[in-house]
This record gives sequence, structure tokens and C-alpha cells, in this order.
Amino acid sequence: MQLTISDVFKRFGSIEALRGVNFDAEPGEFFALLGPSGAGKTTLLRIIAGIEQADRGRVLLDGRDVADIPVRARDTAMVFQTFALYPHLSTFENLAYPLREARIGSNEVKKRVGEIAEMLRLSHALSRKPGTLSGGEQQRCAIGRALIRRPRLLLLDEPLTNLDAKLRHDTRAEFKRLHRELRDTTIIYATPDQLEALSMGRRIGVLREGRIVQIGAPQRLYTEPLDEFVASLVGDPPINLIAATLADVGGNRTLQLPFVDIDAAPWEATLSQYPSGARFMVGVRPQAIAPAADAGEAAPGPEFPARVFLTEPLGDVTILNIVAGADQRLKMVLPQERAYGIAKDASFDCTLRNDEICLFAQETGMAIRRNWASPTT
Ligand SMILES: Nc1ncnc2c1ncn2[C@@H]1O[C@H](COP(=O)(O)OP(=O)(O)OP(=O)(O)O)[C@@H](O)[C@H]1O
Ligand SMILES: [Mg+2]
Repeated sequence: MQLTISDVFKRFGSIEALRGVNFDAEPGEFFALLGPSGAGKTTLLRIIAGIEQADRGRVLLDGRDVADIPVRARDTAMVFQTFALYPHLSTFENLAYPLREARIGSNEVKKRVGEIAEMLRLSHALSRKPGTLSGGEQQRCAIGRALIRRPRLLLLDEPLTNLDAKLRHDTRAEFKRLHRELRDTTIIYATPDQLEALSMGRRIGVLREGRIVQIGAPQRLYTEPLDEFVASLVGDPPINLIAATLADVGGNRTLQLPFVDIDAAPWEATLSQYPSGARFMVGVRPQAIAPAADAGEAAPGPEFPARVFLTEPLGDVTILNIVAGADQRLKMVLPQERAYGIAKDASFDCTLRNDEICLFAQETGMAIRRNWASPTT
């Protein structure tokens, strides 16, 4: 189903929950809605589902205004953030509930419940009540109940929030499989977790205080965030943000960071409007900092001295918390085998990978485009 959100506003008393939201999702698309707590995700999903009315703006399903479509004919299902199963009913009856409501015959109910239970790996638990299911099984039961009427639009509100880390990991993979199997069901998946959004969404809309600040493919958000907010939200550990000043050094425009100077030429198309002395924030991903000794021939960047003050080994990688130059704290990430032997107080030279640096205007937080930046986002 094609979904169009056009200029949607919603206010609760003095709180402006949605302040002009616009986006489209294509039939069969997996669209992630990423935003911190309070950004307006649930409000937006409830409006799409037709449970809540927008103050202004329109929601179109296949080009028809949702307000004009009777609830039963909307072909939309929502899995709520706090999913509620009927505690006195078995898994089978929980799954069957929407079909019974629609007065579907019992043979058909049996068949459809069997299919959905198989797909969601619940066949073993059909006779049990929700209280005896694991968290993941309960979650899948709630999802099954939403899917059983074969909605063409599926709204998922933080469906993994109540699961432990391992189960989240497995269920993420399961959602991707589910999406492939459902083919033309459009999925809108709301989450505050960037990893979930990046790993599952074909596109991601970043919601901040009731507005979409950027829509794009995962890689695009990561490499070309439109502002500091998106840059900080996407990526783990979070991007390093470092204050910098534009300067003229021997006729070359240079960004002066507290611990190193970098060539401003890659942004000059935009920076030419800024005078020397203008202030910026430089964004450097922890993955874009490496020991100078490792940089090799690939895009050697400027070097600076660093000292380790904390190591966080995570198994496959280690996060190094370093002091660059005199007192700039940064995080960098190294593969575990490379970090082996690097301890607190170790000192070595580092480099920044030039082509992975992001630049933001200090006052507005908006990205300064690179000379080669893609034309639109
Ligand atoms: N019924 C309501 N009455 C008053 N304020 C509300 C109501 N529903 C939502 N809000 C407010 O609107 C804003 C957006 O809330 P919403 O639940 O949509 O956020 P969210 O992105 O889903 O957050 P979370 O990740 O915590 O679930 C919040 O400031 C919230 O307090
Ligand atoms: Mg919510």
C-alpha cells in the first residue's frame, strides 16, 4: 500500500507533538521512523492508523484520505508499544481474535492461525496462555495478531523494546524475513534505536520534536547527515563533535581544531561565503580515527598525538577513549586484534580519514555540504 503523509500537525494542549510531517512510503517498503522519546512517533502512527485525528494535514492510503475510509476497510494493523494480549485466551485464540471478529468460518480460522503460527514460530505454544510465553513469544503473538488479517500497511511501534539483547538480535533478523515473505505489505517501524532503524529500514525518516529532519537510506544518513542531530543519533559510538575555527594559513583555508589543522578545500564551494574566524563543528566518527602507523597509502589525513585514558573492550572491537593534543577527548574504535596490547596511558600518533569528516555550522548545526555532495536528500 502506498502511504502519503502530508503536512500533519497535532497538538495536545500546549504540546506540539507533530509540527508539519511529510513523507511517502512506497508499496512494500520497510520505512523506519527513528526518533528519541517524545519525538512524536506513537502520535504519528496512531494518526496513520486512524485512531487519532490530525489537527491539520492529510494521511492518504493508496491516494485516498484515511478519514474517508471506514476503519474496517483500511487494511492497516498496528502493534502497540505496550502490546496487550488477552491473558485469559490461549495463543491460538489470541491469534484468531481478529478473524472471529470478522466472522470468518472456523475452518478458515484454523488454517490461517496455523500458517501465521508457523511463520512466527509459535506452533508449539498455541494452546498456552500469554502468561506462560517468553517475552519474545508474546511479542510474536502480538505481531501475529496484527498480521493475521493480512494488512497491506503494518505499523510497528517499538516492537523490540521489551526484549533482551539476544532476542532483539534474532527478532530483527526475523522482521527482515517477515518483510520479504509479506512482499507488498508496507511496514512503518518506529524506534528510538538507531541500530534497529539502520539494520532494517530501506529508508529512515528521522523525527525530531515533531518534524522529520532527514529522510534517506541508512548509508546516506551515516555519511551525509543533514545536521548535528542526525549525525549524533546515527552511528555507534556517537560521532565526535569538535569545535573548529576557519582560518587562513599561508593562503590556504584551514579548519583549526584544538589538536590539528585540516584542509578546508573539500567544503570550499560553501565555505567561500564564510569569513576567516567563522566557527564550525567538525564531526569525526570513531571509526574514522586510526593509529597513524596503520593508515598506509589510503587517504592519509592529518596526524596528531593521542594518549589513551580509558579502554572499553567489546569483544570484536575496542573503544579507545583518547585525549588528542592537549585536552580534546575523543572516542576511536579499533578491531580487537589491533587494540590488543594498547593500555591506559599508551601514546601514539593518530590520523583522521579526511573523506569521512562532516562539517556543521556552529550556530545552526546544519551540515556544510562538501563540494561533491550529492544534489538532494
Ligand atoms: N494524549 C496525550 N496527551 C498529552 N500529551 C501527549 C499525548 N500523547 C502524546 N503526548 C505528548 O506528545 C509528545 C509526543 O509523544 P509520542 O508518544 O508521540 O512520542 P514518542 O516518539 O512515541 O516517544 P516514546 O519513544 O517515548 O514512545 C510527547 O511530548 C508526549 O508527552
Ligand atoms: Mg511512543
